[in-house]
Amino acid sequence: MKTIKILLTLAVLCLVTASAVIYSGIFPIAADEPHSKFTYWILEQARERSISRASADIKVPELGSADMLLSGGADYNDMCSSCHLKPGQSESDMTIGLYPKPPNLSLAEHKEKHGEEGDETIEAQKMFWTIKHGIKASGMPAWGLTHDDGRIWAMVSFIKKMPELTEDQYQVLTARE
Ligand code: HEC
Repeated sequence: MKTIKILLTLAVLCLVTASAVIYSGIFPIAADEPHSKFTYWILEQARERSISRASADIKVPELGSADMLLSGGADYNDMCSSCHLKPGQSESDMTIGLYPKPPNLSLAEHKEKHGEEGDETIEAQKMFWTIKHGIKASGMPAWGLTHDDGRIWAMVSFIKKMPELTEDQYQVLTARE
C-alpha cells in the first residue's frame, strides 16, 4: 500500500512538472533550434514504430513499369523535389530551413537509414504510407487527401529508381509531355 502511494505521488509530481514546463513557455518551438538528443530520439522512435505498425499490411503492387516511372517522375519533380532534392542537388531553402530536415531521396544512403535495407517490400510499404498520410508536426504533407493510390505508387516506383539516375536521365523521366 505504501509503495503504491509513493508511486502515485511521484506520477502526480511528474505530471505537475510537465504541465508547468509546457505552460511556462520555456520549451523551444523554433525550427532553427534543434531538439535535445533525447527528445529527437524519442520522436524518431515514435515515428518509426508508428509507420512500421500502420504500414505492415499494405499490399505492394508490381512496381517499375515505364508508365509508372514517367508519371511518378513528373509528379515527384512538381510536388516533392523542392524538399527532397534531385540528382546533382545537395540542398535547397527547404532542406536548410525545415526541421526535421527532409531527407535527400536522390541518394542511395537514404535507404539504409531505417535498418530494413534489402527488404524491398517493407521499404515500399513504409514509403507509400508516409506519402499517403504524411508526418505530423513536420513539413511532410498527407498527399492521399488529394491524390489517388495509383499516383502515389507511381511516385514510390520513381523514388526507388532515382538514386541510379544521372542528372540527364532525371530530366528526361520527369518531363511532362
Ligand atoms: C515542404 C517540404 C516537403 C514536401 C513538399 C514533401 N515532403 Fe516528404 N518529407 C518532408 C519532411 C520534413 C520529411 C521528414 C519528416 C520526419 O523526419 O519526421 C519527409 C519525409 C518523407 C518520406 C520518408 C523518408 C524517410 O526515409 O524517412 C518520404 C518517402 C517522403 N517524404 C516523400 C515525399 C513525396 C513523394 C513528396 C511529394 C509528393 C514529398 N515527400 C513532399 C518534407 C516534405
